[in-house]
Amino acid sequence: MTTNKQIVLASRPAGEPSVDNFRLVQTPVPALNDGQVLVRHHFLSLDPYMRGRMNEGKSYAQPQPLDAVMIGGTVGEVVESKSPQFAAGDKVVGMGGWQQYSVVDAGPAGMLRKVDTTHVPLSAYLGAVGMPGVTAWVGLTHIIAPKAGETVVVSAASGAVGGAVGQLAKTRGCRAVGIAGGPDKCAQVVDELGFDACIDYKVHNDVKAMSKALKEACPNGIDGYFENVGGMILDAIMLRMNAFGRIAFCGMISGYNGQPIPMANPSLILVSRLKLQGFIVSEHMELWPAALKELGTMVATGKLKYRESIAQGIEAAPEAFLGLLKGRNFGKQLVKLI
Ligand SMILES: NC(=O)c1ccc[n+]([C@@H]2O[C@H](COP(=O)([O-])OP(=O)(O)OC[C@H]3O[C@@H](n4cnc5c(N)ncnc54)[C@H](OP(=O)(O)O)[C@@H]3O)[C@@H](O)[C@H]2O)c1
Repeated sequence: MTTNKQIVLASRPAGEPSVDNFRLVQTPVPALNDGQVLVRHHFLSLDPYMRGRMNEGKSYAQPQPLDAVMIGGTVGEVVESKSPQFAAGDKVVGMGGWQQYSVVDAGPAGMLRKVDTTHVPLSAYLGAVGMPGVTAWVGLTHIIAPKAGETVVVSAASGAVGGAVGQLAKTRGCRAVGIAGGPDKCAQVVDELGFDACIDYKVHNDVKAMSKALKEACPNGIDGYFENVGGMILDAIMLRMNAFGRIAFCGMISGYNGQPIPMANPSLILVSRLKLQGFIVSEHMELWPAALKELGTMVATGKLKYRESIAQGIEAAPEAFLGLLKGRNFGKQLVKLI
């Protein structure tokens, strides 16, 4: 009988999470019922949204239940199938969670999706050609909706979402400016990902310094801002937004462990006639096919670059997740499970 190693949520964090909030358990893989498939996971995706799910309280999604396998996107291979829709050997993407195997009811649409790894590596379906890539695409093309010649800024620019935002903005004829932590990440954003500039927020570490750096990097002001971080960076951005600028509120990771972060000067929304819109990528399923088509083509043809940080083994998932919240990842954070 095959044993399945799983990570469950053991307790809810107060503030910063720790490895003690997670517990490793081992369970036998159950026999399949009709309509089910058994998937062996090759990669688990670690994502900032998981921090929010660890909390109780109001959010756009239900909290992660205690003692249940942590939620998470996975890619892997079907090893056994009792569903006519899938065969052993199929490569699939799904929401298998923090575990080595998952048994999936293949019937409901969207639970499991076959993917083609001829031109796109399997792991990319959790990153550039997966949820983070689609997030970049939706926020950029539908909320910021940039015109050629405009300037688009994105924070967490070396990350899974941010890296795609800037590269997609470049394909639309924009000036793309990133904000990231540290010289290595900033160099990668410009040299590998092809942004026009990248500002190190650890050097320009207050509103005045960040605003000055933004003025230099964005000589024509900012037309679109893709928000991943919040706090000081957002306050500095607000000072540089052009009239009728658009801000896509995608994430505010700087506040995920603590109290809400205030915005210093909301009157700038009025003064600059800005449009601010939050969005959740899973509420825009109608846009996924078009997004995945463009992202998949760009990755297959080498036009969309990305980096991955890969932790090895399910036991490494909690530590890697805590690292993601502290910026220790460099690009898409994955856990390799085979
Ligand atoms: N709305 C949606 O549907 C949706 C979907 C997916 C993701 N998101 C959001 O998109 C953002 C990026 O997600 P991702 O998966 O691409 O993660 P990521 O950028 O690959 O990794 C997170 C990055 O955030 C930065 N960071 C962490 N703490 C920070 C802080 N206190 N101040 C500034 N930067 C900090 C770090 O980069 P540095 O080292 O550069 O600081 C870290 O590498 C997150 O806010 C996430 O919640 C939203």
